[in-house]
Amino acid sequence: MPTQPKAAVDPDRLPMTLPRLAEKKRLGEPIVMITAYDYPSALVAEQAGVDCVLVGDSAAEVVLGYDSTVAVSLEEMLMLATATRRGLQTPLLVGDLPFGSYEASDELAVLSAQRFVKEAGVDAVKLEGGGPSQASRVAAIVAAGIPVMGHVGLTPQSSVALGGRRAQGRTADRALELARAARALEAAGCFAIVFEAIPAAVAASLTQFLSIPVIGIGAGPDTDGQVLVLHDLLGSPARRRAPRFAKQYADLHAQMLAAVGEYADDVRAGRFPNTEHTFAIDPAELAAFDEGLGAL
Ligand code: KIV
Repeated sequence: MPTQPKAAVDPDRLPMTLPRLAEKKRLGEPIVMITAYDYPSALVAEQAGVDCVLVGDSAAEVVLGYDSTVAVSLEEMLMLATATRRGLQTPLLVGDLPFGSYEASDELAVLSAQRFVKEAGVDAVKLEGGGPSQASRVAAIVAAGIPVMGHVGLTPQSSVALGGRRAQGRTADRALELARAARALEAAGCFAIVFEAIPAAVAASLTQFLSIPVIGIGAGPDTDGQVLVLHDLLGSPARRRAPRFAKQYADLHAQMLAAVGEYADDVRAGRFPNTEHTFAIDPAELAAFDEGLGAL
């Protein structure tokens, strides 16, 4: 089967590994993580030299058009992760276990994680929440030989139970709950943990408190790394109202709209296609064709 071109990779860049990530925390080198959901966005992540790529269940909203992340299925996530894998060589690839694919039992969690590894070729999986059942799922998946990234704070899969998509850990008690949850995930074997929408000062203390790398999103500047949803960063049409903590670096929506609008104008005005986009035929062949057509 023909394969697509791989991204040009700096030959000096080594594939990201779990020991290298841990080393980055130790050395205070910021870890860069971005979401990607398909082959082109993976090529961009590869060429930009990010450390980790997350096929996040945010795909539900920014790629598949669902109202929330809970709707996306494991099958859909596997398809997106498989395409992403094809564009990546060096970043660590993490697949996000979607809602319903790990909560019911350790066995289900292990089976879902194994499918991510076997079918999509991810290096690790991520799951949301830091209660006793999530710690048990993490331990089971890690025991099956698959690295796990945790995720606490604002966990969109349970945002209804959290009272909406709002910052977490804003009182001493709630911040201590976060500390206990993060500690439990670390003890269960997580190699890293995402903190989402947590006060910066709390995230800074917890980053010191934990020995595993902390990747923040809406958690201030003092975590070991940062992650953004690609479509928030790009200003994609699917994410016109990005969360307050996301920084927009481009306005892809405006650029896409201008390009498609210009194409539509060109077609309607007869400016596209022109000779440069058109195949020619030898005049004698054309004459013979016309004659043959007339005889049909
Ligand atoms: O699904 C996702 O994109 C995520 C990130 C926000 C960390 O979980």
